[in-house]
Amino acid sequence: MKEKENVLDAEKTKSDEFETNIRPQRIDDYIGQKDVKENIRVFIEAAKMRDEPLDHVLLYGPPGLGKTTLAHIIANELGVNIKTASGPSIEKSGDLAAVLSTLEPGDVLFIDEIHRMPRIVEEILYPAMEDYELDIIIGSEGSTKSIKINLPPFTLVGATTRSGDLSSPLRDRFGIVCKLNYYTDKELSDIVKRTSRIAGMEIESDAALELAKRSRKTPRIANRLYKRVRDFALVGGDDKIDIKVTKKSLDRLKVDNYGLDEIDIEYLKSLITKFNGGPVGLETIATSIGEEVTTIEDVVEPFLLQEGFVKRTRSGRVATEKSYEHLGINHTFSLFDTIEEE
Ligand SMILES: Nc1ncnc2c1ncn2[C@@H]1O[C@H](COP(=O)(O)OP(=O)(O)OP(=O)(O)O)[C@@H](O)[C@H]1O
Ligand SMILES: [Mg+2]
Repeated sequence: MKEKENVLDAEKTKSDEFETNIRPQRIDDYIGQKDVKENIRVFIEAAKMRDEPLDHVLLYGPPGLGKTTLAHIIANELGVNIKTASGPSIEKSGDLAAVLSTLEPGDVLFIDEIHRMPRIVEEILYPAMEDYELDIIIGSEGSTKSIKINLPPFTLVGATTRSGDLSSPLRDRFGIVCKLNYYTDKELSDIVKRTSRIAGMEIESDAALELAKRSRKTPRIANRLYKRVRDFALVGGDDKIDIKVTKKSLDRLKVDNYGLDEIDIEYLKSLITKFNGGPVGLETIATSIGEEVTTIEDVVEPFLLQEGFVKRTRSGRVATEKSYEHLGINHTFSLFDTIEEE
């Protein structure tokens, strides 16, 4: 029983009250991701018209772009319950069976970090997704038997930062696959303004835009930086957030004007100074700055690649001229420095 609760509550403990309040509940409050939003809106509408559960949905994209938020919105818009679990917390097939057995017809089962689910558990999920059936094996060696349990029709919403790590049989069982993209400065500044409205604090437009520009195109970071800027404003006795307090706070937080934080800078510095700009392998660079390979690959690199600070080549990571410029390090690229893209 305890175990089942842990699986179900895996996510709840992480969120505080402010976080819950600022998380959009309805699709109309979800800013940006226009294409994803419009498609989901249609599929939800159609599922409701057919009176059938929504097809299984896979959401993928870098951390903090709003996958968990969207999963909750889908359940709200469908008017059903959402049960949440995360890939690593489902260790045994029994854990999955426990979660599945709590579902009511039409419910959403949200599995975060679905790429980290063990393969044996994944295999139980196939018939559950396809035929709403659970095949479980009971007993121990010598006297095992397989039993079939019928499940109510449900919608699985899976979230992952790495769709490439998903096995193809699992990926193929999702009828709806949505890629979340980095946000524009305008969208992020709308998110910051919305957060500030909920927090009951006025924020000037140029201040919201400045915050947006330094948030790595990511709502989670924008909201986090917003909270800190608000702290500086409160302590400084300001009754609103203006550009001055925003710039001062962000400088004190060591967020530079591209939104790069300390890990990003360390990564680039290491790449340039220790490895002469590359090419260097992922593991080598991760070790050199004492970070996990997965952190580098899932959190740090996607943004640096997207913004053109780094290139991924067949022989490893390479710093681009933009990185040298940004760090103020002199470098002359020779004509023979041809970079083969992966
Ligand atoms: N489109 C959006 N509009 C407004 N706020 C958003 C939007 N997307 C995300 N947020 C806010 O950003 C924060 C992070 O979102 P969320 O937790 O859904 O990200 P995630 O993609 O699930 O991240 P992770 O991969 O780390 O689990 C939340 O505080 C949420 O309120
Ligand atoms: Mg999440």
